[in-house]
Amino acid sequence: MIKHFLSLSSLTPSEITALLDRSHFFSQNYRNPDKVHHLLRHKIIANVFYEPSTRTRCSFEVAAKRLGTEVVNFVPENSSVRKGETVYDTLKALESLGVDGIVFRHSDDHVFDQLKNRIKLPLLNAGAGKYEHPSQGLLDLFTLKEEFKRLEGLKIAICGDVKHSRVAGSLMVAAEKFGMEIYLSGPPSLVPKSQKLFVTEIPFDDALPKVDAVMMLRIQLERHESLDLNQESYHRDFGMTPERLGKMKKEAIILHPGPFNRGIEISDELVEHPQSRIFKQMENGVYARMAILEWAMGQGN
Ligand code: CP
Repeated sequence: MIKHFLSLSSLTPSEITALLDRSHFFSQNYRNPDKVHHLLRHKIIANVFYEPSTRTRCSFEVAAKRLGTEVVNFVPENSSVRKGETVYDTLKALESLGVDGIVFRHSDDHVFDQLKNRIKLPLLNAGAGKYEHPSQGLLDLFTLKEEFKRLEGLKIAICGDVKHSRVAGSLMVAAEKFGMEIYLSGPPSLVPKSQKLFVTEIPFDDALPKVDAVMMLRIQLERHESLDLNQESYHRDFGMTPERLGKMKKEAIILHPGPFNRGIEISDELVEHPQSRIFKQMENGVYARMAILEWAMGQGN
């Protein structure tokens, strides 16, 4: 059976927990070739990104190489996409060339609907429009679990452009599965209404003392047709500032999926603050993606 990794919503809590356990194993052993380098040796994955990426693309590549896998980096701008080749025909070409899995990012929320039954090798969602970013979701869960040793009952504020964020999409799916509470804050036009019992819309300053973590989000300018963003007033009203950090519990942490805009959604001096886990999230992304690659392409598949 082909194991696509398309969303956290399609995985059970026990499947996600197993991936978190493997992420922990990789966090302890990723530099030990004897323990990990054979796991996906002789496999080849293709990184196919129709949208820009630094963290996701490079960490899938690092994760693959730690597992002994070769990586083909496909660049649409320098490919037959420029001659009109469709997404399906491009992925089918890579399948024909004999790659063993495709890590795929695209701006279309529904892009996998057309592909998942037609491509005969694992597709790994590296970000689909505003829908889900499940490998980011897994690394965020892993970061929270490593920090607090539990997920159940954690309270997380998500602040910013929630409406256009696939990171928020995956975190909310995970929150429901693991009994976490979500507080949504940000400009009213960018915070969708939710009927879910575990989701509360709340002014950011009111959320801060309640939560274990805040997930700060970038304004997704590339998904807005027009937006009159005043950076100074946005930072004042919705940014993570030293004053706002002072309202949080001492053990609460700051998260951000990156890329972050210093001075807009987060003050420069907080990016590497002791309560920030932003760069830890990036590190954890390698472990989470090792777990995902093994799950999709490892023995028994
Ligand atoms: N968090 C994230 O998806 O970052 P990139 O766009 O750099 O991959």
